[in-house]
Amino acid sequence: MSFKQKPWAEPFKVKVVEPLKMTTQNDRENAIKEAGYNTFLLKSEDVYIDLLTDSGTNAMSDYQWAGMMMGDEAYAGSKNYYYLESNVRKYYGYKYLVPTHQGRGAENLLSQCLIKKGQYVPGNMYFTTTRLHQELAGGTFVDVIIDEAHDPQSEHPFKGNICLNKFEDLIKKVGGGNIAYVTIGATVNMAGGQPVSMKNIKEVHELAHKHGIKVVLDATRAMENAYYIQQREEGYSQKTVAEILKEFASYSDAATMSGKKDLLVNIGGFVAVNDEDLFEELRNMVVVYEGLHTYGGLAGRDMEAMARGMEEAVLDEHISSRIRQVAYLGNLLDDYNIPMVKPFGGHAIFLDARKFYEHIPQNQYPAQALAANIYINSGVRGMERGIVSAGRNKETGEEYFPKLELVRLTIPRRVYTQAHLDVVAYSVAEVYENRKNAKGLKMVYEPKYLRFFQALFEEM
Ligand code: F0G
Repeated sequence: MSFKQKPWAEPFKVKVVEPLKMTTQNDRENAIKEAGYNTFLLKSEDVYIDLLTDSGTNAMSDYQWAGMMMGDEAYAGSKNYYYLESNVRKYYGYKYLVPTHQGRGAENLLSQCLIKKGQYVPGNMYFTTTRLHQELAGGTFVDVIIDEAHDPQSEHPFKGNICLNKFEDLIKKVGGGNIAYVTIGATVNMAGGQPVSMKNIKEVHELAHKHGIKVVLDATRAMENAYYIQQREEGYSQKTVAEILKEFASYSDAATMSGKKDLLVNIGGFVAVNDEDLFEELRNMVVVYEGLHTYGGLAGRDMEAMARGMEEAVLDEHISSRIRQVAYLGNLLDDYNIPMVKPFGGHAIFLDARKFYEHIPQNQYPAQALAANIYINSGVRGMERGIVSAGRNKETGEEYFPKLELVRLTIPRRVYTQAHLDVVAYSVAEVYENRKNAKGLKMVYEPKYLRFFQALFEEM
């Protein structure tokens, strides 16, 4: 007998299950038509395997559920807040914590506190809500990610890195005083879940501080990023993900966080900072938008679940099985020669819709059409990450035409089995077989903000 690669498996077993409704292809054709070919508008009941997002869709552990019963639902000074604060200090190292209902709540507060009208905010590729909050606060986002990030075929191990030359050019052009701060998203969602190296964040931190610019980490998936550093960067293979995470965060002055990803909860987020004056401002602001600074729009039980999720999520055995499960799907799709972003991302596999549907021009929304067709084929729900998500230039009103035209198949944490992923891969392969018959879409309703959530389409 010849040995294959040693198998891996999840470091947990299943205690509770949620039955899924099975649908026919006819049901799904009607459902997607009714949803205007937008997978965000499908009823979750009509979805078999839901790979729309890894956000708030994670399975909590018995330890977290037990913590839900320990909620201290006081309006002020809940003990769960203090526990969360101590864990944020322990695992990320920031001194001060302001909880928020989710990541965009944190982005809103920080953007409003730090951005003066007319300032620039460089970052390693945009994220939809992050950029919008920066713009609403009067800032202009500037993409300073390395060029490799825009190339689905580039095998660069840290495709999320900031290009120091692009960042420095911007500083020279507008002056450090006109830059509100620089954001580092880790991993970079829109680039395909690609990581940032320790060396890169260190260099960005040095350059930024030399010019008096603050570094803000989007820590939403920073634990997954830390795992990639352990696996790929010299000098880190013997360190734990927890050690790497803390060092990584030490090169930033503040963080915004969507706890709905890394932290294994269904709701929650925070903004964490080291600067006392900034903390004071955030503490003032949170009362207006979220709630008192010791709950920030969350119940005590939610803060407890997030604090406990942090302890479980940072464990090497958890992160490694999480990321290897995503790679498992990627490898299956590779066997079917499906065009994808490589290397595989930490939270999702990104299908390259440009290559998949070469005959559909970008202004007919090929990724939107692909997500709809996968749903029709099998009830698997993914999400468009291309021209629809990119939206329009806030000055000219023109549509952005991003290089990456992708469908994201996002894997929730601790939710689906390998057998589910086998079904997903088979379905994508069938849709690929039939790719020549696919039609483009036309947009028949376009919302003003974050249009991808609610836009409606018809088949061409
Ligand atoms: N930053 C990143 C990198 C994200 O991926 C998200 C959310 C946010 C910030 C905003 O956090 O949703 O808690 O308000 N991403 C989700 C996704 C929506 O599906 O990728 P939020």
